[in-house]
Amino acid sequence: MIHPINMLIEVLKDLRNHGQTTVPIGAENFSFLENNPLVIQKITQQSPLIQNLIQDMPPAVCPSEKLQTIVPICKSPSVFVTKQDHWEDLRKRVFNNEDLKKHVRPGKNLVFGVGNLDAKIFFCGEAPGADEETQGIPFVGRAGQLLTKIIEAMGLSRDEVYISNIMNWRPEMDGEIGNRPPTQEEMQFCLPYLVEQVEIVKPNVIAALGATAVSGLLGYDKSRKMSIVRGKWHEFYGIPLMITFHPSYLLRNGTNSMKRVVWEDMLKVMERVGLTISEKQRQYFL
Ligand code: URA
Repeated sequence: MIHPINMLIEVLKDLRNHGQTTVPIGAENFSFLENNPLVIQKITQQSPLIQNLIQDMPPAVCPSEKLQTIVPICKSPSVFVTKQDHWEDLRKRVFNNEDLKKHVRPGKNLVFGVGNLDAKIFFCGEAPGADEETQGIPFVGRAGQLLTKIIEAMGLSRDEVYISNIMNWRPEMDGEIGNRPPTQEEMQFCLPYLVEQVEIVKPNVIAALGATAVSGLLGYDKSRKMSIVRGKWHEFYGIPLMITFHPSYLLRNGTNSMKRVVWEDMLKVMERVGLTISEKQRQYFL
């Protein structure tokens, strides 16, 4: 049986797709929603589109006006005064979520995005590895150190970009050693949290790192070939998306020509966000 909240979410999504940004509700329902933050939380967690909708909403009309009152579909936009507020609220929702927490090994951590909430560039990887789940920070292991070098080669620091993963937990394995890619189902589960981070940061460009991240963002496509889709512009929720190889692929395949391939993708990202590119930078790995 479909849960009534999920049905409601589908109806709201449909309205949103048809351009409707507000719904009329009676004073009684208004006070029910006000007194049931969990319902609101469930709606916002399940549907980033609706979260997005909140931002565009006109302020709620006072419910005491009786009859039908126009209110935002969920929390009033004024709930989040700043990006930082919204980010902290989301981070808390992730860290308090039992459905996420149950996947974390004892003594390890969920991993949430880090960086500048006004970043122009949003790097998106697939899932935390051993180092990341230990520290609770994305991209701090070997692949992460290489990503940091790439960011620095672009003339930036980690604090000037935003770095996240689709997954918030390290995909479970029998032993401690090695990583497995997340399943499509696991990524679907975590994706709303990633989308909400994108909505908060509102980057000019997203850089998707590796084929698994691309499947998580754009959906699985058996016929998609990294060699074809990388280096080209795609879109994610209307934001330009550059696809490139994962740094761990570079660690396994670190020829100069492969480094150059990834670097050319980064040059495109730099151009797109208006970073100055020196002659020296243009020549890296040639
Ligand atoms: N690989 C990823 O995709 N993300 C990390 O955080 C680390 C390695």
